[in-house]
Amino acid sequence: MKSIKYAFGMSLIAMAMSAGTAQAAKLTLYCSAEEDWCQVMARGFEEATGIDVNMTRKSSGETFAQVKAESSNPKGDVWWGGTGDPHLQAAEEGLSIAYVSDMRGELHDWALRQAASADDKTIGIYSGALGFGYNSDLLAANNLPIPACWKDLLKPEYKGHVQMANPNSSGTAYTTLATMVQLFGEDEGFEFMKGLHANINQYTKSGSAPIKAAGRGENTIGIVFLHDAVKQAASGFPVVPVAPCEGTGYEIGSMSIINGARNLDEAKQFYDWALTAAVQSEAWKVKSYQVPSNMAAETSPDAPDLSTIKLIDYDFAKYGSSDERKRLLQKWDEEVSILPQ
Ligand code: F6P
Repeated sequence: MKSIKYAFGMSLIAMAMSAGTAQAAKLTLYCSAEEDWCQVMARGFEEATGIDVNMTRKSSGETFAQVKAESSNPKGDVWWGGTGDPHLQAAEEGLSIAYVSDMRGELHDWALRQAASADDKTIGIYSGALGFGYNSDLLAANNLPIPACWKDLLKPEYKGHVQMANPNSSGTAYTTLATMVQLFGEDEGFEFMKGLHANINQYTKSGSAPIKAAGRGENTIGIVFLHDAVKQAASGFPVVPVAPCEGTGYEIGSMSIINGARNLDEAKQFYDWALTAAVQSEAWKVKSYQVPSNMAAETSPDAPDLSTIKLIDYDFAKYGSSDERKRLLQKWDEEVSILPQ
């Protein structure tokens, strides 16, 4: 009897010890949307599942570079958000893995097309159109005309008044570069980027920074996704979004599971959860006005209506391919960014 009690006692101690040393479930999330939305996603998943989330926010191009640099010893599990082009490049370079979620039946075609062009290694989570926004007070104070078209931004009177991000770090800025090449042809597109360079006051790291600066009155015109300009206007700043007259490009914001993810089960759980209508409906509560990929997700009445904007037929497969993205960025570095201002 005594030995049975002893054995029972020992197994309880062993159970307690193993519970003490058991690793709590966790997820390392790389996020390339706005910081407040990234927080909603990280904290929301923790609340829904009890899984600890370690989240880092970086721009799309920066996150791509990080995932690539870590590829021999991956640290991230899921890359959520950011423009689709670098997600497609990551898929092509074997930095992400295929996953077919049960949630697919609830998604728009454009989200599924993104998956199809990457052999299921990425998927669309939102979309949004590129454009620019201006601070109406600063425009008036400087006696500047209201810009309506991309080519307006080349006018000499806007010198020092235009800001955009660096296309190497920012998906927004890479979308801008790829849009000009598709809209005007490569030669004219690069001439546009060179002319624009003469008016740029600063290339920022993050894509939305130029319009946040406009909101604060530190910059006049910011080239950004329209939803990021609407966010500033909805936050009470004197920012006016403009859908350029020539037409414009757009993004399919994407999500990928990183190849070598240490917490693969948790990564898949996050992926499925992030595609639900309920989770995607949280976005506009932090004034993120992208179009959600889940057809049943709610959007704000303030969100830009993409059906009213002249969108180009953006070639995601081409401009998200590794060779093309590298080539365009190198050409921009060598032919545009080095020009005097
Ligand atoms: O969350 C805002 C947003 O504009 C997204 O729509 C987009 O995918 C992302 O930021 C791009 O950020 P960045 O240009 O910094 O890579």
